[in-house]
Amino acid sequence: MSAVVIVGAQWGDEGKGKIVDLYTESADVVVRFAGGPNAGHTLVVGEEKIVVRLVPSGILRPKARCVMAQGMVVDPAVLVGELDTLAARGYTTQGRLFVSDLSHLILPYHRLVDGLREAAASDGQKIGTTKRGIGPCYEDKAARRGIRVGELSDLNDVEEKINRALLAWKPVVRELGGEMPEIGAIMAELRALAPRILPLVADTSALVDAAIRRRERVMFEGAQGTLLDLDHGTYPYVTSSTAVAGGACVGAGVGPTRINRVLGITKGYATRVGEGPFPTELSDAIGERLRVAGGEFGSVTGRPRRTGWIDLPALRYAARVNGLDGLAVTKLDVLSGLDTIEVCTAYDTPDGRTTEFPVRHVGLAKPVYETWPGWKESLTGAKTMQDLPLAARNYVLYLEAAIGVPIFLVSVGPRRDETIVLRDAFG
Ligand code: GDP
Ligand code: IMO
Ligand code: MG
Repeated sequence: MSAVVIVGAQWGDEGKGKIVDLYTESADVVVRFAGGPNAGHTLVVGEEKIVVRLVPSGILRPKARCVMAQGMVVDPAVLVGELDTLAARGYTTQGRLFVSDLSHLILPYHRLVDGLREAAASDGQKIGTTKRGIGPCYEDKAARRGIRVGELSDLNDVEEKINRALLAWKPVVRELGGEMPEIGAIMAELRALAPRILPLVADTSALVDAAIRRRERVMFEGAQGTLLDLDHGTYPYVTSSTAVAGGACVGAGVGPTRINRVLGITKGYATRVGEGPFPTELSDAIGERLRVAGGEFGSVTGRPRRTGWIDLPALRYAARVNGLDGLAVTKLDVLSGLDTIEVCTAYDTPDGRTTEFPVRHVGLAKPVYETWPGWKESLTGAKTMQDLPLAARNYVLYLEAAIGVPIFLVSVGPRRDETIVLRDAFG
């Protein structure tokens, strides 16, 4: 196995950062292919915790090269901030972090419009975005007036293009009651940031292709999750990019024939941050307990995450649209202490009961639950499946059978060593 894609199988924050960091022990290249600083991937090594938003989660492994591919949207100030944070913690990015010249820049007017829209939207219309400018930046990309990272080498030309983009956004900003940013201030910031970013710029599609041809181990790191995917998620409560595995090909510039394996990540329960349907959501004491025990507060915005039971129809849907070959189950430890665990196995819809995820009318569907016995024991320190209490082991085996995807890994804590690895990602 040379090229492996890792994606979130739920609504994001499944623990992709931890799993990618872990498997990068034996990877040569790690490639982020979609999204931007709406992502927050948490890496815990010993007592140290780092949240990366743009830089791939392989960056803590000195031998791995890290690629930010053209499917990403890059906020230059966030990127430089991340480079500085990593350097201050002793992690080098020099010569091993590469940013696609074709990735798009998030500029101040994107963040402004994102924030103004969210503030102006009435309840029920809000998406609950991260306000990082993601949607407006991808809009500019699709409207063919976006500005790409490689263009930072000619700031006079960039200034002209930004002026044109500002004209396009002006009526929108006016309508929303905002103040247009000044071109002078935007350019001054870019002039300061460009020299930090230009040395990283590369043709990353060629770089990744060359690595695959050399039979190096390449890991494609997804951001967000399947149900936040622009096409396959719970639209319109989604992000503005492709979060499913197919996005690795488009976003990194490699053909589907080059990908060998696709792994999905799910928590042992479910969370969602932001608005939108979440049928298995718990608004009771158990939901609060999962939030506290799981530390379920957004790694980018600090917002409390909504919590709920695991949703098997949604995971089977994720298995289908991603073509999952394997699954990692994270945060199993968070379920310790519950008397029983509910599992959503099907949905009652206006058209009857279905075991499919009703993605087209999820708001009208009612989950059907099966009850599983819980366990009291802490899972900390478990290194093998035999170390798990019987009820926890049975729960994992049940998920594997019911989703129909082999489980590669079970995670029982945020740290690298708090993991039961059943199969190697590349093996
Ligand atoms: P990502 O966006 O998918 O990378 O996930 P986040 O980093 O946003 O959120 C996952 C959170 O759960 C982080 O705080 C991780 O440190 C933590 N985490 C990951 N795996 C486990 C686990 O197995 N158990 C516990 N308790 N925490 C975990
Ligand atoms: P990682 O990679 C969880 C959610 C936002 C909002 C919706 C649209 O850490 O799993 P956006 O700012 O993208 O326009 O917001 O998508 N969202 C995420 N939720 N994890 C993420 O990333 C997310 N990225 C975006 O909360 O509901
Ligand atoms: Mg996250």
